[in-house]
Amino acid sequence: MVAELSPKLIAEVQRAAELLAVQSRICILTGAGVSAESGIPTFRDKQTGLWEQYRAEDLASPNAFARDPRLVWSWYQWRRQLVHDKKPNPAHHTLAQWQQDAIENKKSFTLITQNVDDLHEQAGSMTTHLHGHLWRNRCHDCGTPYPNKAETLDSNKKSINFDDSLISCQQCSGYIRPDIVWFGEALPVQAWQTAENAAASCDVFISIGTSSLVYPAAGLAQLAQQNGAKVIEINPNPTPNTIVDITLAANAGVVLPLLMQKMAALT
Ligand code: OAD
Repeated sequence: MVAELSPKLIAEVQRAAELLAVQSRICILTGAGVSAESGIPTFRDKQTGLWEQYRAEDLASPNAFARDPRLVWSWYQWRRQLVHDKKPNPAHHTLAQWQQDAIENKKSFTLITQNVDDLHEQAGSMTTHLHGHLWRNRCHDCGTPYPNKAETLDSNKKSINFDDSLISCQQCSGYIRPDIVWFGEALPVQAWQTAENAAASCDVFISIGTSSLVYPAAGLAQLAQQNGAKVIEINPNPTPNTIVDITLAANAGVVLPLLMQKMAALT
C-alpha cells in the first residue's frame, strides 16, 4: 500500500509526524471518507440502485420527512442494511490505537465524527458524534427514544428488522425516525460543546475524510487555527478548506498507519 505513495507525500507524512510528536493536545474530526475503505459510500458519492434518483441532501431533512415520512424511513432502513455488516478499516484501528496511547501517556486526544455509523466504536475509540447515530431511533414529535432491536443487538446487527413500514410513537403517535441530525436541525448541545472546546484548545487539528462543506462541523478547523493550532488534512481529493498547513492527499486507511509508524520511530 505504502508503495503507492509518492516520495513527496511520504515526505509530508514525515513532516506531520514530526509536528505531532512534539505536541500533546490533538483534536481529530472525521467524515464519511474515513469509512469509505470499509465499503460505506460517502455522501457526495452518487447513490445506487433504487435510490439513484435521489440526493442524500434531499432525504436527510425535516421537510423531506414531513412531506413523505415513508420515503425517508425507507431510505434509512436501506442505509442500515448497507452498513450493518461493515467493519472498521485500518484508519479506524489506527485512530483507536492512537487514542489509547494518548490516554496512557496522559495526552489530550479528542475524536469527533460527523459519521452516524459506529465503526470508530467498533475499533475501540471513544467518539463524540456530531450528527447522531444510525442505530438509534426517536420520535420525530416528542423525542422519546424508541428502543428498537438495533439498540439492543448492536453486536449482532444481522438480526435487525429492516422493514420499511412506519412506526408510531407509543407516547404521542408521532412517527419514529432515526436519531440523526438532519439538514437544518441543531447539533446535540453536549457533543458540540465537546467539539468546540477540543478544537479551541488543541495544538494540532486533523481533518480526515470530510468534504468540509457542512457547517458548523466544517468551521472547527478554523476555530482551531484561530486559537493557534496547526491544521492537517487527510483526503485524496481537494477541499475548500484553505487554512491547511499540511495536506496528506491519499486514503486515510493508507496514510494513518504510516503516520503512526513514523511517529513511533521518533519517540
Ligand atoms: P462527504 O461525502 O461530503 O465527503 C467525503 C470526503 O471523503 C470527500 O471529500 C472525499 O474526497 C473523502 N474521501 C473519500 N474516500 C476517502 C478515503 N479513503 N480517505 C480519506 N478521505 C476520503 O462526507 P462528509 O464531509 O462527512 O450530514 O459530509 C458531512 C455531512 O454531510 C455528513 O455528516 C452528512 C452529510 O450530508 C448529515 O447527515 C447531517
